[in-house]
Amino acid sequence: MENLVDIIRRMPKAELHLHIEGTFEPELMFKIAQRNHIQLKYGSVDELRKAYQFNNLQDFLDIYYEGARVLQTEEDFYDLTWAYLERAHTDGVLHTEIFFDPQTHEANGVQFKTVISGIHAALRDGYEKLGITSCLIMSFLRHLDESAAITLLNEALPYREMITAVGLDSSERGNPPEKFERVFSMAREYGFLTVAHAGEEGSAENITNTVELLKVARIDHGNSCLDDKKLVNLLVERQIPLTLCPLSNLKLKVVGQLEDHPLSKMLQLGLMVTVNSDDPAYFGGYVNENYIAIAKALNLDRNQIYKIARNSFEASFLPLSIRKKYISLLDDQFIK
Ligand code: ADE
Ligand code: ZN
Repeated sequence: MENLVDIIRRMPKAELHLHIEGTFEPELMFKIAQRNHIQLKYGSVDELRKAYQFNNLQDFLDIYYEGARVLQTEEDFYDLTWAYLERAHTDGVLHTEIFFDPQTHEANGVQFKTVISGIHAALRDGYEKLGITSCLIMSFLRHLDESAAITLLNEALPYREMITAVGLDSSERGNPPEKFERVFSMAREYGFLTVAHAGEEGSAENITNTVELLKVARIDHGNSCLDDKKLVNLLVERQIPLTLCPLSNLKLKVVGQLEDHPLSKMLQLGLMVTVNSDDPAYFGGYVNENYIAIAKALNLDRNQIYKIARNSFEASFLPLSIRKKYISLLDDQFIK
């Protein structure tokens, strides 16, 4: 196992499910709060970390939106994104596809331009200084109306070149994919790729409708797909990737223990699974910790780890030539 941990740490990988607001480490949150003269609910970093006990997705989202309140300026978004990129770089991440939630920040009086300019400047530096390639996925908050998502989509059009895909996150329960059929269709017409969270706290039916109605290129999470054989066949046939997040699932009690995580079964069935960190500052681990924890819990072998890392590039939105280049770097490390 020790050997596999070393392999995981140094192997090239892509991260495909990462909310930039979910990388907000308490230390940086306190620093930025002070800079912006914002009072946090918690007195110290330790107190804040202790509050990270969640019973479900909503418990987490309440605290996550509260933390995002601190982010006000372009510099804040730059610092947040840069801190993540440096960390991802040490984890062997060559490419990352990052969600951002403009509606969260607009509710805090922060303009779209401020958010995207700060994040984008850091991504540019990430490429120039660290060699990390990246793209942005603009997420609609599904607890809000579709009309609000359409307003956001129109607002994003002047920044079209900076955004690769749109996504759908926040509370799955009570906010099914059907609610967003129109805005996803508009987004596709504008040339955006689409992804959506589904089957995290929701049913297999939510995943089916996400595939059929929203016509997504990937499903974020997708844990509950195993409840429906027909859906599994469809996901396997079309090789629709699932961006799994094991430590998130554990913290949000989607699984009782990692040993019960569906990843092994999914691999066995031929589903295209990937491993990601979701909101690492809140769930206790970046991408490597996710790989290591799930490998230990499910006793994954070298071939399975290779397959998951390879999938991370195959499932990415990178041009084929760069995907191939990254996979050959992965092969260099494995075929020795
Ligand atoms: N926003 C940030 N993390 C999320 C998750 N795991 N599920 C839904 N919405 C989110
Ligand atoms: Zn997520």
